[in-house]
Amino acid sequence: MNSFGEKFRLEIFGESHGPAVGIVLDGVPAGIHLEEDDFLEDIGRRSPASYPAGSTSRHEKDIPKIVSGVFEGTATGAPLCIIFDNADTDPDSDAEYARYVHIPRPGHADFTAAFKYGHHYDMRGGGQFSGRMTLPLVAAGVVAKKIISPMLPSASLLSIGGEDLSKCADEKSVSEAVSRAVGKATSEGDSIGGTVRCICDGVPAGLGEPFFDSVESEISHLVFSIPGARGIEFGAGFASAGMKGSQCNDPFTDGKGSTATNNCGGINGGITNGNRLSFDVAFKPPSSIAKVQRTFDFHTGKIEDFSVKGRHDVCFALRTPVIVEACCTCVLADLMLRNR
Ligand SMILES: Cc1cc2nc3c(=O)[nH]c(=O)nc-3n(C[C@H](O)[C@H](O)[C@H](O)COP(=O)(O)O)c2cc1C
Repeated sequence: MNSFGEKFRLEIFGESHGPAVGIVLDGVPAGIHLEEDDFLEDIGRRSPASYPAGSTSRHEKDIPKIVSGVFEGTATGAPLCIIFDNADTDPDSDAEYARYVHIPRPGHADFTAAFKYGHHYDMRGGGQFSGRMTLPLVAAGVVAKKIISPMLPSASLLSIGGEDLSKCADEKSVSEAVSRAVGKATSEGDSIGGTVRCICDGVPAGLGEPFFDSVESEISHLVFSIPGARGIEFGAGFASAGMKGSQCNDPFTDGKGSTATNNCGGINGGITNGNRLSFDVAFKPPSSIAKVQRTFDFHTGKIEDFSVKGRHDVCFALRTPVIVEACCTCVLADLMLRNR
């Protein structure tokens, strides 16, 4: 459904080409200082304008309007509602999106949404399946960061189009590798994916609610609400399956529970162990590509040539680190409030 969390609860709303997108946050502790300027840095990190080569040319101002839950710059404890207007919606693209009803984009949600909701579905701009829905998630993360402070999750791009960015010597070579990968995909009319690593130090031991609300389950649940998320692994993740116990175990080094290695990503039994929380997320390449594909036209009943027109990201993974960070932060805030 469209809500998540128990004590810090998110309720998301809106569609890509509707009047607005937004979020209602319930459980924000009263007294937290909050103003619109607090959102600008994280919103900027998600904005396509920060990654002009490789991102959609849709440019929204993304100014947060706090319509409830804050009085004189302080959270009141009432539901906090934040709204972002959709202003740059390109009505000329409506006909193109209407076409996807009978020629659904392979890899996108057009087929499943039309199957589930029929003609009631607002598919303009991808409707509620659009990457735009991650803007309110980022806003929720900003509020959650205030709840969990001084803890501060930090996420960054680990790879792009299969190229491992951790091998780059410095920031300059990372941005050169990114430009190269994005430039090549753009010139081929294609798209690329990427992976993101999120870490958080200073997480207290004891967060997490087994059986079903383990830290991994909660983080995965929220991360998989990011459109295009395709995989997640905690600590050594899938590589653990190929290790021996003697390699995989994280030996304790002191009475506080510090460990020499961190193959478990800071979680044992679904509960944080006080070491660094660490997980990686894989994002697929955007489905909307200019390159001609062969696919099924449900009107003609034939396999046809198909190419996507309009404004799309070549690599939306570039914009996701701050979104992953927001997911991690919201989960930690919820688990902390549940622990109290
Ligand atoms: C920030 C962001 C921007 C995105 N931009 C695009 C895009 O421009 N074109 C596209 O085809 N998919 C884009 N996506 C991914 C689609 O929204 C997603 O693939 C689609 O909703 C289907 O969901 P699924 O891939 O999780 O099955 C974006 C995702 C995010 C997180």
